Amino acid sequence: MATKEPMVIVKNLHREFTLGDHIVYALRGISMEVYEGEFVVVLGPSGSGKTTLLNQIGGIDSPTKGSIKIKGEEITQWRAGQLGEYRRNSVGWIFQFFNLIPSLRAWENVALALEFKGDRKNIKKRAFEMLTAVGLGDKTKRFPSQLSGGEQQRVAIARALVKNPEIIVADEPTGNLDYNTGQKIADLMKNLNEEFGGTYIVVSHDISITKKAKRVFHLQDGQIESVEDHSSVN
Ligand SMILES: Nc1ncnc2c1ncn2[C@@H]1O[C@H](COP(=O)(O)OP(=O)(O)OP(=O)(O)O)[C@@H](O)[C@H]1O
Ligand SMILES: [Mg+2]
Repeated sequence: MATKEPMVIVKNLHREFTLGDHIVYALRGISMEVYEGEFVVVLGPSGSGKTTLLNQIGGIDSPTKGSIKIKGEEITQWRAGQLGEYRRNSVGWIFQFFNLIPSLRAWENVALALEFKGDRKNIKKRAFEMLTAVGLGDKTKRFPSQLSGGEQQRVAIARALVKNPEIIVADEPTGNLDYNTGQKIADLMKNLNEEFGGTYIVVSHDISITKKAKRVFHLQDGQIESVEDHSSVN
């Protein structure tokens, strides 16, 4: 594994939400490091802060205090425009409920990520290639409603990866799939990580994903309770 400095360095991260007259302490001093090319899992009970943490790393929300360095750059200091560029170009998202656009065909959903990036060269070809890489080369023209849940998640994975992001964040990517389909998606994500690289931060309770992670961060009440390290095994 290529490593010098960790690619993601989170230090003493806090996120507080004000709700009426009280404050919700969603993240309470998170520190963690993720290396380039690593595949890590974040595990924790409902409400422990997993989505909030991914949102900070993925640049769609800003912390109340603390530091997030991506490749040495302090992203919490960035202006909105710079953060937007980071989200569009450098981060690939995979969600529990796929979040595909129903009126667009599979390849068009994938192509959209390139359009947003302003990377319009060979869009269709690259979308088809990425769909082939996730095993959907024969279903590129289907609409999401004409695909199974597992197939829709494959489209969503292709959409996340087609722009060649440095960081892939996934929030319960198998949470809406049956066990066997979930296992196939877990295998696919790990294979893509090995084939194309990319740094994966995956929130999941799914044992088939957790087993593939070199390290598992356990979150509890907005804090990291422990880190399981399987790097000598995997
Ligand atoms: N926008 C918000 N306003 C107020 N409170 C929020 C907001 N977003 C999250 N929270 C609170 O922050 C805490 C952490 O929420 P978060 O969504 O990160 O949990 P989670 O670990 O992802 O849970 P789940 O497994 O159910 O998805 C919860 O107590 C939640 O109610
Ligand atoms: Mg969540």
